[in-house]
Amino acid sequence: MTRFILGIDTSCDDTGVGLVECLPGGGVAVRANRVWSQTVHAQYGGVMPELASREHVERIDSVVGEALKEAGLSLRDLGAVAATSGPGLVGALLVGLMYGKGLAQALGVPFYAAHHLEGHIYAAASEEALEPPYLALVVSGGHTHLFDVAREGEYQLIGATKDDAAGEAFDKVARLAGLGYPGGPAISEAALRGDPDAVPFKEPLRGQTGYDFSFSGLKTAALLASRAGAKPDDLAASFQRAAVHTLVKTTVRAAEALGRTTVVVSGGVAANRALRRAFGATGLRVVFPGQGLNTDNGAMIALAGAAAIRAGRAPSPLGVGAQAYAP
Ligand code: KG4
Ligand code: ZN
Repeated sequence: MTRFILGIDTSCDDTGVGLVECLPGGGVAVRANRVWSQTVHAQYGGVMPELASREHVERIDSVVGEALKEAGLSLRDLGAVAATSGPGLVGALLVGLMYGKGLAQALGVPFYAAHHLEGHIYAAASEEALEPPYLALVVSGGHTHLFDVAREGEYQLIGATKDDAAGEAFDKVARLAGLGYPGGPAISEAALRGDPDAVPFKEPLRGQTGYDFSFSGLKTAALLASRAGAKPDDLAASFQRAAVHTLVKTTVRAAEALGRTTVVVSGGVAANRALRRAFGATGLRVVFPGQGLNTDNGAMIALAGAAAIRAGRAPSPLGVGAQAYAP
């Protein structure tokens, strides 16, 4: 049995390396999770792809070393290596993917290419075994995707954002309210001091029969309210409530229609306390990733690798390439 799996994610501007242990009873445990967050992009107001790749090249080896140290392991203990192959910035992805493939080949262990979103979903496996069927809502800076997972490894996309991703909306509203970056944590903190009734927001896509999301209307409404003098804390509280409401309501409607009783909620925005509270009140069984596993990290990729191994999936060919857009 493969015992220790190393996972690498370099899909954007975080160099993430994690280690998971496959336990004898079929469970998994995260033994290490190290993330090096690049700060060089702050001066540009957005991620510069070429700089991201270079930083990954400079950091990857030391972050792998830190993860092994945290787990008290050496390279020889590894039974498999997993790395994100997409979606993401191609140059950034290539660094982790090539490093992972090279390491697996040098060690003579199997290599598993992982899908970044599957990684986000499997981040929740740190808390509970994920047994299909379930719904998976991935809410991050780049994605707002709702999947129906009827069987292990089969993801049917049943809803997605029509414009901005949920995390992107948190970031933009935080910026226009002058609350700083990253916006998600800034909004949730300011919301504690604000009045959620102060700024009225219309529910996006109200009356739709599908399960899509839209955040650009909320963003525009926030901009107008800000110009009209709304207080940043009130804006944060009101926006957060509207964003949480649309995410929870749409997901619950899908769960009811499809007869699903378990929902996995993951991605950076899943760290949001108001979102967790609202999902907790739905009566559904809701599984969130453990601490440090909501935002991009390598442990979630190791967890996806562990699931692939458990499901008996064949290792990936070493010719597997990086994909900016992965279906
Ligand atoms: O998953 P992630 O690290 O990156 C992507 O793959 O996109 O997610 C980052 C996003 C950012 O937009 C950030 O503002 C948001 O997750 N986020 C939050 C919170 N913490 C991070 N949004 C709302 N509430 C939070 N507490
Ligand atoms: Zn992500």
